[in-house]
Amino acid sequence: MFDQIAGRYDLLNRLMSMGIDQSWRRKTVTAMELPPNARVLDLATGTGDLALMIARRHPDARVVGSDPSKRMLEVGIEKVKRIGLTGRVELQEGDAQALPFDDDSFDGCCIAFGIRNVPDRDAALAEMARVTKPGGRVAILELSEPHVGLLSPVARFHVRQVVPLLGGMLSGSREYRYLQKSIAAFPPADEFAEQMRVAGLNVLDIKSFTFGACTLFVGEPWEAS
Ligand SMILES: C[S@@+](CC[C@H](N)C(=O)[O-])C[C@H]1O[C@@H](n2cnc3c(N)ncnc32)[C@H](O)[C@@H]1O
Repeated sequence: MFDQIAGRYDLLNRLMSMGIDQSWRRKTVTAMELPPNARVLDLATGTGDLALMIARRHPDARVVGSDPSKRMLEVGIEKVKRIGLTGRVELQEGDAQALPFDDDSFDGCCIAFGIRNVPDRDAALAEMARVTKPGGRVAILELSEPHVGLLSPVARFHVRQVVPLLGGMLSGSREYRYLQKSIAAFPPADEFAEQMRVAGLNVLDIKSFTFGACTLFVGEPWEAS
């Protein structure tokens, strides 16, 4: 599905979130509290926006971005080359449910707008806990139905009506219907936090952004406590 929309994915993200998606990613990078010379894993990296942001904000970090969509990765690899970060950002094909990395091999692990798409979320969360070093942060950014504040009905209308319509028109694809449905189907924050705990992560923080349209979950592997 993501192969079909890869060419316009970045543009659609910026338009439909009115540019706010990048500020959510910035908050995710900050929440990871990366140490110097960090090795970081960005799952469901897509076109690499979060991986690139990590590398730019941490000039000594090396980032591996992993995603099963070849087309999304191709767009991402072009961006990495254009920005001149080939030496520090490596994008590769991979599935979050079964990672080809050793235990405790990353100082931080993140996934933005991706965990919703993974069929076996428990497996992906357990993999994130497994490959992250004790004391390292696991950051999960995900869209949610806006229910916070007086203006949340307006934001809900945007997510339910405007996003599928605009996304369909601009991408020429019906996949943006799926986006709205998958957001509505994502579990409430407390339920997802419980899923994280069961998978081996201590939940350190849960932050809600923009009337609840986006939630950031921050955890660390159990071993740290
Ligand atoms: C909405 S995009 C998010 C891309 C990027 N993280 C961002 O911040 O824009 C969701 C991504 O999840 C990926 N995805 C789908 N199934 C996956 C899986 N099982 N494991 C890892 N990534 C997956 C898709 O290929 C797609 O690139």
